[in-house]
Amino acid sequence: MSTGSVVVLGAANVDLVLRVDAIPVPGETVSARGSEVHAGGKGLNQAVAAARSGARTRLLAAVGDDEHGRFLRAEAEEAGVDARGVRVVAERTGSAYVVVDSRGENSIVIDGGANSTLRGVSELERHAIAGADVVALQRECPAGSAFDAAEAARAAGRTVILNAAPAQGLPEKLLALVDVLIVNEGEAATILRDLGQAAAGGSIEGQVRALAERVPAVVVTRGAAGLMLGRGDEVIAVPAHRVEVVDTTGAGDTFCGALAAEVARGSALEEACRYASAAAALSVGRRGAVASIPTRSQVEELLAQS
Ligand code: RIB
Repeated sequence: MSTGSVVVLGAANVDLVLRVDAIPVPGETVSARGSEVHAGGKGLNQAVAAARSGARTRLLAAVGDDEHGRFLRAEAEEAGVDARGVRVVAERTGSAYVVVDSRGENSIVIDGGANSTLRGVSELERHAIAGADVVALQRECPAGSAFDAAEAARAAGRTVILNAAPAQGLPEKLLALVDVLIVNEGEAATILRDLGQAAAGGSIEGQVRALAERVPAVVVTRGAAGLMLGRGDEVIAVPAHRVEVVDTTGAGDTFCGALAAEVARGSALEEACRYASAAAALSVGRRGAVASIPTRSQVEELLAQS
């Protein structure tokens, strides 16, 4: 099986993480148990996940000409991601303020910075997209960049995977360019509401079936409850691995990047979902986003045990 190639276009952030017992409610002040700085951002996380799963991976992103930007590019390269296409722009590097509680759940506030300058794709970026087996996109950068990238990928006959996170309505013209849509239950409900199909969001299977009418394949991820893959009339449930949760930050991105790598390798979608689900399970047992993403051999070891 060939390794396949993946281009990821998306956000790169420095994650400023505070560990707390419980995430504060409005008006409450709490003390952190500790703080960490990690590499993150949905685009960078997904690119690292694809590379650690063995895909030849390029990241198209934007960072500032600052210490954080240099840190993120170095982290990408260290993971085997080709980061030569990362733009260095006259804005500070994006940052994410992440609060993680004792159960590993998080709340995140993003300061987009350089990511906000990714409003479309350049000729060079278009060329990179046209040369990849799979193009992986998210919704953390301005909508124009995901749309342009999806259009360029579709024109070149490439597979488009869209992780519609963070939650927001999804323009139908973007949805029409997607081959595999990946969402969690909240994102699925938001998209269906925006499409005027709120009623379909009443049950998880209803969400999957309604979205599968719009795209060739949809994956609805459900954390510890596993995932559902919808394709045409078929709905397949894939259970999650039982793991101790330390930090869920970047688990969804690990899933998406690992899935992109598997699809680029030529795996069938159901098989790719099982692989990606094991990768995500390993990531929640570790702290940080990029720092938590497993390698192919670690994922295969977990799959061999189950
Ligand atoms: O999906 C997790 C990511 O969301 C974090 O790494 C943070 O940067 C935010 O973009």
